[in-house]
Amino acid sequence: MSEAKISVTFEQDHDRLDALFTSFQERKRKDFAQAKEAFVAFRFGLQRHIVWEEDVLFPKWEENSGMAEGGPTQVMRTEHRLIRDCLEAIHHKVQEQNPDSDQEEQRLLEILKAHNMKEERILYPSIDQVISAEERAELYRAMDAIPEERYRTCCGSERS
Ligand SMILES: [Fe+2]
Ligand SMILES: [Fe+2]
Repeated sequence: MSEAKISVTFEQDHDRLDALFTSFQERKRKDFAQAKEAFVAFRFGLQRHIVWEEDVLFPKWEENSGMAEGGPTQVMRTEHRLIRDCLEAIHHKVQEQNPDSDQEEQRLLEILKAHNMKEERILYPSIDQVISAEERAELYRAMDAIPEERYRTCCGSERS
């Protein structure tokens, strides 16, 4: 993986995921097959992003700051659970070929927007400040080493 700063890599992934979700929303009432493809890429990508954060990035932040219980990463983990619930609600509608998921989409976007902003303003920059280039390379290696099954099959309906 790249030598880019953590904040750059993770912000780029937020942007990439936002674009996939927009593509799903724009297409779902025009070309459902294409919309579904965008949604599947979005869902896997978001699950991967969350696993990167929960398994690699947050533990590093907690180690460096000495803050775990009651700290910002705990809030982020709680929000990830809400995000996953919203994602599954939309996923069910997509599986039924039902484009009427506007309310669920709205809720997901609301949570995600505030969540990503907090990560981009606070967590990512503070990680970049405290880690060395070597530690950063280690984080990227750890992210790369996570098996796909961790984010491809987490809800047991990976063939959507
Ligand atoms: Fe997150
Ligand atoms: Fe994130």
